Amino acid sequence: MVNDKELYYNELNRLLADPKVQRLREFPQHHGSNTLRHCIAVAKRSFELAEIFGWDIDEAELARCAILHDYYLYKIKETGLSAYRHGTSHPEVAIKNARKDFGLTEKEMSVIRSHMWPLTLLHPPRSLEAALLCLADKDIAIKEFAAPEIKKAAGLARKLRGKKAADGISKNGDDL
Ligand SMILES: [Fe+2]
Ligand SMILES: [Fe+2]
Repeated sequence: MVNDKELYYNELNRLLADPKVQRLREFPQHHGSNTLRHCIAVAKRSFELAEIFGWDIDEAELARCAILHDYYLYKIKETGLSAYRHGTSHPEVAIKNARKDFGLTEKEMSVIRSHMWPLTLLHPPRSLEAALLCLADKDIAIKEFAAPEIKKAAGLARKLRGKKAADGISKNGDDL
């Protein structure tokens, strides 16, 4: 293990105990998820990726950025923003809110600012923590988007297996 997992999870839990962070629960994310659940999943995945790549990270910094990267505090549907507009603008909104409520370092602002790259073309990741957050966010978003389709495919596969089993039984029955 390259990084201190205990330190990372202590920082995550310290943030999650804050009622201001718990508010993220109120804001929907992709397909039935909420922003708090999304940020926790992104935080876990960011650390996993750091370990897979063997990258030595600043644990507290990555934990804070992962939990606060979508701290934009609005319901997308209520704003009338297009997906593209939300996609390009919400990192700055998250930075503004998180600066006010928690304070952010220049590096933390940069990490959050680049998490939607390449959509935000002019703000590529400029640190290991930024690259991890950018990758983990996409990985989790894809899983959240795909979740209903995966469920449907699993249901279909179950049905097909059931049909095959039923075919097998009737065939055996006919043979008798
Ligand atoms: Fe985001
Ligand atoms: Fe996100």
